[in-house]
Amino acid sequence: MPLAEFTAELSAMRAAAEAAFASAADADAVEAARIEFLGAKAGKLREAQKGLGAVAKDDKPAAGKHFNDAKQAIEAALAAAQERLNAGGAKQRTGPAFDATVPGTPLVLGHLHPITQTIEELKDIMGRLGFVVADGPEIEDEWHNFEALNIPPSHPARDPLENFYLSTAKAANPAGKTSATNEPTLLLRSQTSTVQIRVMEKTPPPVRIIALGRVYRPDTADATHYPMFHQIEGLLVDRHVTMADLKTVLRLFASSYLGSDVHIRFRPSFFPFTEPSVEVDMSWNDGWLEMGGAGMVDPHVLQAVGYDPDEVSGFAFGLGVERLCMRRHAIDDIREFYKNDVRFLQQF
Ligand code: PHE
Repeated sequence: MPLAEFTAELSAMRAAAEAAFASAADADAVEAARIEFLGAKAGKLREAQKGLGAVAKDDKPAAGKHFNDAKQAIEAALAAAQERLNAGGAKQRTGPAFDATVPGTPLVLGHLHPITQTIEELKDIMGRLGFVVADGPEIEDEWHNFEALNIPPSHPARDPLENFYLSTAKAANPAGKTSATNEPTLLLRSQTSTVQIRVMEKTPPPVRIIALGRVYRPDTADATHYPMFHQIEGLLVDRHVTMADLKTVLRLFASSYLGSDVHIRFRPSFFPFTEPSVEVDMSWNDGWLEMGGAGMVDPHVLQAVGYDPDEVSGFAFGLGVERLCMRRHAIDDIREFYKNDVRFLQQF
């Protein structure tokens, strides 16, 4: 094909394209023009490009330049048309039509975390037995976490490797206010028994409370351990409280949560703040499920909070909330609770 013919056809096509884009009144018209001239498969520019192959070899550079000029001009005309329409505002826009028959996107409803649900249920059960909910801080001093609970400084339970002691507490104290040795050492509480002390310090007997909350221990996470978990603590102090009362309350608690045919088993144990002390098992299916510790409040503890051990006695227990929830729902790994995997959490 002679060069002149090629460029003439090209110029005509370019003029037609520019006119089409310039006169396009809406997005549909622009799109139609775009397909006609710039369409990747059968657009006119594409056709012209094929004609390029038919031009004599010597004319190729000149023909190529014409072609590129035309291409740029047509693309610029498209861009100009689009800009003109956009500037025209929303009334010009023609998006896909609204189809009222397309199924909607359902809103997924959130709900309480399984541990929160368990805590609410346990509060409910113990509330029916006359226990009121008490609370205490998660950042504790050594008096409430250890000393008042009859755990002396030499006790292995106070080992820095067994607890999350906080060093920031000291650093944050304003300089010159107190001497370093007077500042209380703080730690993340390792047990909710701290709340027993806080309640008894403020309330004269009788007391009948539960405390539910997080406790922290530097355990390596595995299927049954996590550095943070929840306990339900119970404390009842009154005249003539006995081990039989403890067993009755725990049995009522267990049958309410796990079913009416549950049995309670006490195994001798030791805690500095109870005497005698027991580990509590609840029957589960064909075996026994270890729930936590319990016992009669040690007279030293009653004295530490200003109670008279000759006048009153009491029992206390501390059970693992995750463990109860795991057994109820047959969850075999405690880490599931804290992965934030919605597929797991949605099941409860
Ligand atoms: N505080 C004990 C623990 O965390 C449990 C416990 C509570 C034992 C109350 C006796 C009485 O292991």
